[in-house]
This record gives sequence, structure tokens and C-alpha cells, in this order.
Amino acid sequence: MSTDHLNIEVMLHPVPERLTPSTPTPYVNSMEQYQKLYKESITHPTLFWGKLAKDMLHWHKPFETVVSGGFLEGDVTWFAEGELNATYNCVDRHAKENPDKIAIIYEADEPDQSRYISYGVLLRDVCRLANTLKSLGLKKGDTVAIYLPMVPEAVVAFLACARLGIIHSVVFAGFSAEALRDRIQDASSRLVITADEGRRGGKTIHTKKIVDTAVKECPTVEHVLVFRRTGSEIPFKAPYDLWWHEELEKHRPYCVPEVMNSEDPLFLLYTSGSTGKPKGILHTTAGYLLGAAATFKYVFDYHPNDIFGCMADIGWITGHTYIVYGPLCNGATTVLFESTPVYPTPSRYWQIVDKHKITQFYTAPTAIRLLRRHGREHVEGYDLSSLRVIGTVGEPINPEAWEWYYEVVGKKKCAIVDTYWQTETGAAIISPLPGAIPTKPGSATLPFFGIEPVVLDPITGQELKSNNVEGVLAVKKPWPSLARTIYNNHHRYLDTYLSQYKGYYFTGDSVGRDKDGYYWIRGRVDDVINVAGHRLSTAEIESALITHESVAEAAVIGVKDDLTTNAIHAFTTLKPRFADTTDEKDLILQVRKVIGPFAAPKKIYIVNDLPKTRSGKIMRRILRKISEKEEDQLGDLSTLSDPSIIPTLIEKVRNS
Ligand code: WTA
Repeated sequence: MSTDHLNIEVMLHPVPERLTPSTPTPYVNSMEQYQKLYKESITHPTLFWGKLAKDMLHWHKPFETVVSGGFLEGDVTWFAEGELNATYNCVDRHAKENPDKIAIIYEADEPDQSRYISYGVLLRDVCRLANTLKSLGLKKGDTVAIYLPMVPEAVVAFLACARLGIIHSVVFAGFSAEALRDRIQDASSRLVITADEGRRGGKTIHTKKIVDTAVKECPTVEHVLVFRRTGSEIPFKAPYDLWWHEELEKHRPYCVPEVMNSEDPLFLLYTSGSTGKPKGILHTTAGYLLGAAATFKYVFDYHPNDIFGCMADIGWITGHTYIVYGPLCNGATTVLFESTPVYPTPSRYWQIVDKHKITQFYTAPTAIRLLRRHGREHVEGYDLSSLRVIGTVGEPINPEAWEWYYEVVGKKKCAIVDTYWQTETGAAIISPLPGAIPTKPGSATLPFFGIEPVVLDPITGQELKSNNVEGVLAVKKPWPSLARTIYNNHHRYLDTYLSQYKGYYFTGDSVGRDKDGYYWIRGRVDDVINVAGHRLSTAEIESALITHESVAEAAVIGVKDDLTTNAIHAFTTLKPRFADTTDEKDLILQVRKVIGPFAAPKKIYIVNDLPKTRSGKIMRRILRKISEKEEDQLGDLSTLSDPSIIPTLIEKVRNS
């Protein structure tokens, strides 16, 4: 398919006012400069990354080899002999230089409860927690599960682990007890760090109760450390359960950082893949930290004194990279936002931009679309003149939402950065650079330094070298922040990312490259569905449904949705003896219970039969067409074992 139908010239947005040539001057100032630097980064990756690593990170021991290994063997290695500590880089060096500088602005669920945490205070808290972890016998290489709401203590927990070389495995606090249990078990975590309760959008989340249910089946867990967020009465069993405030009080506020090798693991983060079992993506210390720090600085054009506001949750990769590691490694002030874009009103985002004088603001397209629906009156009346760069992540942004963000929020004076990346890539890999790359609404534009994207023919695997092509997106050479493996499952890592197209890293996304070489991400080509920027697996939701006693079969599909990019629809058949006692609500509850509320299907259809091929394979393509009300495009039905079921399915969907 050609991209000629897109009227690209008309949509090209020049670099906006607040970045030319006003202060601070953007690091990369023109397209020519970007192209020159990009070319250097590709022709001399060793020089490029080697210099950046020396400039941006503090090394206890310098590295000698910049990069070794590759995609063929899956043994990518960066900065091999180097030694460093991620927390030293993110906290100590800034606390020494400027202890009173604010590291974290905590914007709590209730607007009047902000807290400001300086680098000096952050260092002392991190050290107290690190000493607590040590006193519990935890050491380098152990894993700790972090299941916390968006409170500053979550950042303290990340950094206390990293200080000791303990691998943190953060589980998004919207996951259910069963999902948390599976992740604790897979990583054999020895400790869970959690809170009594969470608060979000004025509602209470019973965090500790969820942990209690999860750890019942987790024999590796020795203790649960509980931060007091709300102070409500909760079930508490000492000495298995420990209070954060009581333990930290016992320990001195300094702890020597453990010196780590560049390739020592920094963290695990579970993400959905094509099968039902989530995969523990493993990131290593130096490469990840450099990717986070470098993209933070250049993609957001971060300058000292900027206030950076990333609205993601720390439970996802965006929070790891652009709330915690990227900003703190640069000594920045980062905003930690506990609430939702609509609590207490749809002005909340703009209220906090105004209140904290945020300079870079980063959120998901779904949030923009939602706020656009609420109307521009909710944006008016707030002073947004501090903003220079406004970003999006997680899903494609449609041009209408892009234009609204550009005009109503950015007042046509801010650069929009539509950043494309993945849990596995660690940091943004395709994105505009503010001040340098003219934007086109809906395109993530051009690759970051050192990233060589390629468009492959999905069938032959051949590189499509010209412009104006469509195919699947892969990357040609390793870059520092690429995930190194799937925890305890290197085979799956090779199979998923490196074997499908030999010699390349395969993203799982389809893409177009237009006549100007700009990239347009189209969506996943595997069984992953992107819902409101959350990554969900059809197989995972299907297996959640099938574990319900009534369900015989389940087929889950992603259906186009104006607000959330895709919505989940599920078709199920029931076991005959449960046919009269089970309804759609029971099945939605089942998904909430097994995965979490954010994975609940928008629609569930209980049907008598699913469309299958003669060999018994469910034809999800047909279900998708029916759900999208495109019955006239069902295509060839002759391979179905029983085509007569189709009219009934169409009627069911039409009448729902
Ligand atoms: C999608 C989130 C279009 C894509 C950082 C990718 C995007 C998946 C964009 C990764 C974007 C992310 N435009 N699609 N700017 N950014 N995606 O691991 O399908 O939660 O593969 O990482 O989100 O989701 P993940």
C-alpha cells in the first residue's frame, strides 16, 4: 500500500515558536544538524555511544569495549568491563552537587496534597530503605516485587533495589491478585513492597488485601513491606508483614552503593506477548540507563530547571524510563501524578501544568482524545505558557487529536513529540526532536540517534529499501537500551524478537515509510492488542475466560475504537449445564479477577458456536469483521466448517 493518499505537505508542521530561537536553545537546532549527528551515530556507533556513555554516566570503573555480540546469537553486550551504580547516577551525584534541588513533585490524588522531595532527602530515604532490605538478608541478584500506587515511596523502592543490585519487578497496581501472584512466582521474588491502600480518582484501592491473596501461593516471599498511604485499618500479620515507617526508622540514612557491571540486570518488567503467559523483560544497568538518560535529554530537549511531567504510571515502562530513570539520571525535577485526567474535573492536567510550571508534558493519545471530547473550555483559564514540548506515547495518535493537542494545549507554540517505543526497546526509538524535526500529525517521524529502523516485507523478510513502502518494523543493529532477555526464558526471547527475521530485532508492529522517510506506525501484527496505550494479549484474556467454570471456548479480538484505539470484544461458548446460570457480567468479572479491571472486555457475546475452520481453528478475522459491522467484507467463508452460524453471529452483534 502506498502512502501517497496522505497529503503530507499540507500536514507538515514547522518547528514551533517556543523552540526557535528563544532560550534555552534546543540541543539539536535544525534538520541538517539532526541528519549530520544521525549519520555519525550510524556510521560510527562505537564513537557515538562511547562518548555519550562517558558524558552522561558516572563510572566507578570505565568500560573498554563499547559493544559486542549481536542479533544472530542474542548476546548483545554494551560497555562490557564498565562498572557503575544506577542509583549513584540518579541520586548521589545530584544530591552532592545540589541537595536542595527538587527531585520529585508528588501531585497526590487530592489536589491540595502535593509533596516536594529534594535530591538530599531522596538519597537519605533510598539509603534507609536499602539498609532495611539488607537487614532482611536481600542481596545482589535477588528479585523484589513492587506493587505500589503512584507515591514517591515507589521511586524510593526502585532506587533502593538498584543501589544494592536487587532486581526490581514492578507490577502495575491495577493488576489483580492472580496476575500479581503469577509475576511474583515467575521471578521468585523474596519480598513484596506495597501500601495499605491506594487512592485514584477519589476511589480507594485495597492494595494490601490484593497482596495478601496473591502471596498465599508464593512460597518464595519472606516478607511484605507496607507503606502507609491512607492509614486505614488493614489486615496485618507481623513479623511476616512489616511497616515501612517502622523499619526505615531503624536504619541509618547512608548505604554504600553496590558496584555493578554494565550488564548486570537492573530490573524486570512483565509485558504481554502472543501467548497467555506474560514475559519478564529484563533490562541491564548501563545500556538501559544510557538509553533512558539520552532520549530524555534530546527527545524532550530537557534543560536544567525544567519541570518534567510524565502522566504515565510507574507500573509501565513509560513510568520507569520517563518518570524515574531518565529524569533522575539527568538531575531533573520529575512529577509523579497519582490521579486521573478527569479528577476532580477534566481540567486536572492543565491545573497541574499551571501549578508546577511544567515545561515538558507527556501523556497517552487516549487521554488527549478523552479531554478533547470534554471540550476546550476545560483547558481555558489555565496558564500553559511554561510548556515547550508536549509528547505522546503508547498508541498511534490520530491527526484530529494531534491538532487539538497542538492548538488548544500547545497554542501552536510547542513541539509535539509522538514517541514510538516498547517495553523491550527501553527508550524511545522513533520520535521527533523538538527544534530540529518538522512534524506530521500521526507520524512518529524519524529515528533517534543510533537506531536503524528497517521496513521488511512481512512474507519474504526482504528489506524494503526505498521510501513509500509498507511492511513490518524491525531494527538492524543493537542499541544500548534494548532488553537483553526474557527472565529465565532466553529461547522465548530469541523466538519472539530475533528469529522471525534473522539478523534483525523484530518489533511486532507494522509500519509505513512515506516519501520523506517518515515512519507511520500502523499497529501490532501479532496477538497483542493496544487498548488505551495498555498492551494486552488476546491469548491471556482468552485463558482468563476459559478458567471460568462455565466457559467452553473463548475468542478475543481487538476492535477499532475512537477513544482507546482498540477495544476488547470476546465471543464465548458455554458448557451446556451452565448455559442458564451464566451471563456476560460474570465473564467480565472473571477477566477483572484474573488480570485486572483495565483488561475487562468492552463487549462479551455468549454464542452457541464460534466460526472455525475444518481443522478446528477459530477464525478471529471473521469475528473482527462482524464486530466492526463490516459483514459485507467477510471474505471467503468456504473454509468454515459450518458457515450457517454466521447470520446468527451477525444478528447477535447487531442486537447487542
Ligand atoms: C505501541 C509503550 C504508535 C506499539 C512505550 C508498540 C505506539 C507498543 C507508539 C509497545 C506510538 C507505542 N505510535 N504506536 N508513538 N508507542 N506504540 O511495551 O504497538 O507498553 O509495539 O510500550 O505500543 O507498548 P509498551
